[in-house]
Amino acid sequence: MAAMSDRVIPLLDHRQQALRPQVPAGDDLTGQLRDGWRRPLRDLRISVTDRCNFRCTYCMPKDVFDRDHEFLPHSALLSFEEIHRLAGLFVAQGVQKLRLTGGEPLLRRNLERLVGMLADLRQPGGQTLDLTLTTNGSLLARKAQALKDAGLQRVTVSLDALDDAVFKRMNDVDFPVAEVLAGIAEAQRVGLTPIKVNMVVKRGTNDDQILPMARHFRGSGVALRFIEYMDVGATNGWRMDEVLPSSQVLARLQDEFELRALSPGATGETARRWAYADGSGEIGLISSVSQAFCSDCNRARLSTEGQLYLCLFAHQGHDLRALLRGAPGHPPCSDTDISLALRHIWRQRQDRYSELRSQAPAESGPAPRRVEMHYIGG
Ligand code: GTP
Ligand code: 5AD
Ligand code: SF4
Ligand code: SF4
Repeated sequence: MAAMSDRVIPLLDHRQQALRPQVPAGDDLTGQLRDGWRRPLRDLRISVTDRCNFRCTYCMPKDVFDRDHEFLPHSALLSFEEIHRLAGLFVAQGVQKLRLTGGEPLLRRNLERLVGMLADLRQPGGQTLDLTLTTNGSLLARKAQALKDAGLQRVTVSLDALDDAVFKRMNDVDFPVAEVLAGIAEAQRVGLTPIKVNMVVKRGTNDDQILPMARHFRGSGVALRFIEYMDVGATNGWRMDEVLPSSQVLARLQDEFELRALSPGATGETARRWAYADGSGEIGLISSVSQAFCSDCNRARLSTEGQLYLCLFAHQGHDLRALLRGAPGHPPCSDTDISLALRHIWRQRQDRYSELRSQAPAESGPAPRRVEMHYIGG
């Protein structure tokens, strides 16, 4: 494996790669929506900015996302009105959960205004949506109350270590653990619950933090989830030997705690859940590498500039912004036409990257031209 500085990073220019969605003629909006593997569409993750104030080594390594990196200009971003309109159309097609992501979503100015708009959406049967957000926690202490007041239900906070030195090495911007913990405490205080904490485990980097993190969050009402380090994007220099399989995380936990497997909640869930036998809460294991969960993947991702990705590992998005705004020779589309296009895109979906990768693991070789995670969200 080449040293970081020798690596050639084939960053995608997503704008050139985007596909213009077709609006199929002679179709209508009735009938069950299923993809090519009969999976429904239930979960939409909306990235509201491609920027982040962290430089986690597994997501936005500093040598690539440096001062010269060009983030999207404001005019490229979907406006709150555009996001709200698209989200409403997705909800009409079966989406039940909206997750705001980034980059770091709390960097988007006035995010609580968008939260308020999305909180008013209802499912076709009148039910409210599961409305949540993934954050690195750095601005959470300041923003939790406004987000709660706007209608956000819960948050998931990323935190990879309890030890400051380990955490700072991973976030690479010298950000202290205590401020993230203060954000979590404030989110708890204002009722953005149930709170989940996501810890990406890299063997040799933070696996010594598994037990300290478990001890810290046990009994706190926060569900800690251990995530296998994934080969997303093309910039993090991923190596299989840095993945600690969930089975080993579990074994380490079971050395200290008695755990009982919980039965799965919703279909399509990413985490296998385990409860502490003494009733002091639960943990989750997200095994995207060692035990792929594509077979019931019901997630779609909307990038900051309005491209729809059908898989975390996709090479191309579908340019929904072109439908909203129109393009040379193409007037802006009506809600009906956008919905028809969405249905057409979902029906064509065949993605199941993690399953295929586990059948034919790619351990080395040139980095593939995949979309970056900070651009479409986790
Ligand atoms: P809850 O509704 O709170 O249970 O959230 P979730 O587990 O669906 O979503 P979250 O964004 O917290 O996902 C946690 C982590 O799982 C992400 O940061 C990713 O590392 C991984 N992950 C989430 N969705 C996918 C997916 O569709 N494919 C793969 N391979 N990994 C995913
Ligand atoms: N592997 C696993 N999870 C990742 N995330 C980002 N990059 C990776 C990766 N390479 C997830 C983390 C973080 C969320 C925003 O994205 O869970 O909490
Ligand atoms: Fe930022 Fe989250 Fe990526 Fe870290 S994982 S660089 S906090 S978007
Ligand atoms: Fe879904 Fe793609 Fe993840 Fe599989 S790899 S679970 S298809 S997003």
